[in-house]
Amino acid sequence: MRSVTKAAVWLFLAVERVLTAQIPLSPDYHDESLDFYSHFERDSRQWDLDEPYDVNATGNLVFETVNSLLQHWANTRYRIGHTIVPGIVPVGTILYHGAITGPHIPTALDWVSVEPEHSMIFCRGTVETGCWHATFAVTRPMKVLYFDGSSAANIPEGTMDTQDLVAWSEMRPEWVSNDTQRIRDLCKWGLKNGINGLVRMEMNFEIMICNFTSHMEVISFSNLDNFRLASDNPTDLPDDPNNVHQVFEMMHSASWHENYPGETRIILDYSALISFYDNDLVPSLVPRRVGVERWDHRVAGISPEDIERVKDRLAQVLERPPVTASGIDWKTVLRSVVDRYASRLDVMQYLMNITLDDTPVLLDRARKVQRQLRTMLAPYILLAALPPRGSVEVNATNSWAAPVFQGCATTHTSSIGTSGILTPSERLLLRAVRETTREICRVTTRIWASGFIAGLDPLYPADQNLDADRIRILMGEWNEDIERLMSWLDWSVWVKCRPACGVEEMCYLPTWPLGFFPPDHPFPAWNSALKLPWPDPNEGEWKRPQHKCIRRLEPYGF
Ligand SMILES: *[C@@H]1O[C@H](CO)[C@@H](O)[C@H](O)[C@H]1NC(C)=O
Ligand SMILES: *[C@@H]1O[C@H](CO)[C@@H](O)[C@H](O)[C@H]1NC(C)=O
Ligand SMILES: *[C@@H]1O[C@H](CO)[C@@H](O)[C@H](O)[C@H]1NC(C)=O
Ligand SMILES: *[C@@H]1O[C@H](CO)[C@@H](O)[C@H](O)[C@H]1NC(C)=O
Ligand SMILES: *[C@@H]1O[C@H](CO)[C@@H](O)[C@H](O)[C@H]1NC(C)=O
Repeated sequence: MRSVTKAAVWLFLAVERVLTAQIPLSPDYHDESLDFYSHFERDSRQWDLDEPYDVNATGNLVFETVNSLLQHWANTRYRIGHTIVPGIVPVGTILYHGAITGPHIPTALDWVSVEPEHSMIFCRGTVETGCWHATFAVTRPMKVLYFDGSSAANIPEGTMDTQDLVAWSEMRPEWVSNDTQRIRDLCKWGLKNGINGLVRMEMNFEIMICNFTSHMEVISFSNLDNFRLASDNPTDLPDDPNNVHQVFEMMHSASWHENYPGETRIILDYSALISFYDNDLVPSLVPRRVGVERWDHRVAGISPEDIERVKDRLAQVLERPPVTASGIDWKTVLRSVVDRYASRLDVMQYLMNITLDDTPVLLDRARKVQRQLRTMLAPYILLAALPPRGSVEVNATNSWAAPVFQGCATTHTSSIGTSGILTPSERLLLRAVRETTREICRVTTRIWASGFIAGLDPLYPADQNLDADRIRILMGEWNEDIERLMSWLDWSVWVKCRPACGVEEMCYLPTWPLGFFPPDHPFPAWNSALKLPWPDPNEGEWKRPQHKCIRRLEPYGF
């Protein structure tokens, strides 16, 4: 197997070398990174149930950010983008543009929205003149580059950093609000590299278009009865129900893409993605994240060498013909892991969140937890792996369960990379899936194995009465283990309004620039909004946006 892999990779390198003769091969073009388990093998702790993930490993972060691409909530919650991905807007896609300046269709360097609820906010005019709104259809596949996070939020906390690197090869905090300069320079770079659009997100997804005529045609350019949004005088606004309604509906249209599969009108090429959580590509950020919460992860602080490497990689992936990737549907590979574990981990956390003094409840819950675990692990519970009854009672390491752990951890990825070619981005994704599934499987197998020995497994119930005191201790430990696992995974599928919202409500996450205003000014006019003081981003819910139910009908309230 190894030699086949080596030969395939060698062949890939040879082909890649011909295809990208001008671009120097990056140093990680060797096959060691394919063998994620090698560092465990060296110290033979690969399938040790007590050996957790490496503290600096970022597989969980790569996994979750990639699994959240183009989803509104995940990228509103963690505003600082860490991923750049090329993609395509397919033929036939309809895009919208509200003209601020009157009856002029833009030809270059301007924005389009994916929803008219968003573009109409920019359709400006008086009641007498109405306003001008353009609808476009994509006429040939439009190559775009997507920046994840709240990448259209003009705030100084780092939302613009990945764009700054592409446009200017350095952070330019003094230009945080200078989108005119940004679109000019991103498009200058983009057009040279075959990119006609830059996809970003704030209240909804938007695309900076470099050339309006090369990939789109005008379907309509209409003089509309405008929204009559209240004037720019912020004091008028909190009470203006029309204004509030439009703003609410804009957020409502964004909510259609709040979770998986997200905004599907942009089709990303996962085999070409670049992640600032890639420790091989961007080693300079590793020490900057030590002991730092995910909310505070930044791209700022990256070394000049790493910026160069990122830009080389970007040039490389944009030049690479698509056939040089494996053809693996990474979006689905990641999603099937989340599908398989998310709801069961969630229900286990619920089952274990009890006071441990009530013995009948404790034993009932412990059995139910064990039933969940057995279901999750059933495809890997080899008959031969089960310990002979009574024989391992004293062996605390539960090493008999290693084959279950291994089967669980390798099932999603063992076939990937053994044949065919993987791009550097795909190798990063493979490692992310491996690190993530290894930890899920380690923790779940560990709990199941100790429950099995304690007589909780539904198929192997204890001969005598269960030892409640022992199970009490186990449940306490399991609860901590599951908490730790779930906060390490930090999957956005678990972040939602609990309990669910009522029929007249919608679940909402504070989104820039809405919800970033003092309570007495919930909806200032658009231009004034951007001039209001920015709340302390290191405080409370501004730093850690929390879901809440808001009304979807008048009277609104955020
Ligand atoms: C944006 O940057 C350009 C180039 O430095 C400058 O000329 C322009 O005045 C800036 N605009 C704003 C609004 O800062
Ligand atoms: C935009 O694209 C059209 C059609 O491909 C081309 O004729 C025109 O020169 C382009 N404009 C710019 C500014 O690049
Ligand atoms: C994690 O990274 C920091 C900074 O690079 C380093 O000092 C530390 O030794 C690393 N820890 C481990 C366990 O590798
Ligand atoms: C555990 O239960 C308490 C009380 O029912 C609840 O407030 C808390 O949010 C729960 N914790 C988790 C992690 O579900
Ligand atoms: C536990 O069992 C494994 C194999 O079954 C053995 O290698 C290990 O030494 C045992 N550990 C203890 C503490 O008995």
